[in-house]
Amino acid sequence: MNKLFEAAKKARLNSYSPYSNYKVGAAVLMKDGSIFGGCNVENSTYGATVCAERTAILSAIAQGSNEIAEICVVTDATPPWPPCGLCRQTLTEFGDGNVKVHLANLSGVKESLKLKDLMPYAFLPEHLSKKSKKKK
Ligand code: THU
Repeated sequence: MNKLFEAAKKARLNSYSPYSNYKVGAAVLMKDGSIFGGCNVENSTYGATVCAERTAILSAIAQGSNEIAEICVVTDATPPWPPCGLCRQTLTEFGDGNVKVHLANLSGVKESLKLKDLMPYAFLPEHLSKKSKKKK
């Protein structure tokens, strides 16, 4: 846990956030034991901004690891920030409802939740089954 927090805090230092000035760091612990860090990467179009959580998750996927066990998000805010809706949906794609989500600020983890409590009634791959396909 401490390792995951430290990885998120370290990744936060790379935050590219000249528009919001909010530095966010995240780190994912994968089921295979590997850890990947991420930070928010903003864009002058605003809409192309990517959150720290998704940067971390996409980095894991790009390295061939795709089962999330835990994630830690760090800002300097109190109370700490929870992942946004897009990040919750992305967590849902690569983790089950038992994924632990640790919310932290610079002094440490302040709250730990389960993904199923943060993202009830998520959109799941099974919703794309044939049954729910539109008839021609
Ligand atoms: N941000 C994250 O990195 N994670 C979240 O879950 C919420 C928002 C970033 C996006 C943007 O760079 C800044 O925080 C302000 O929204």
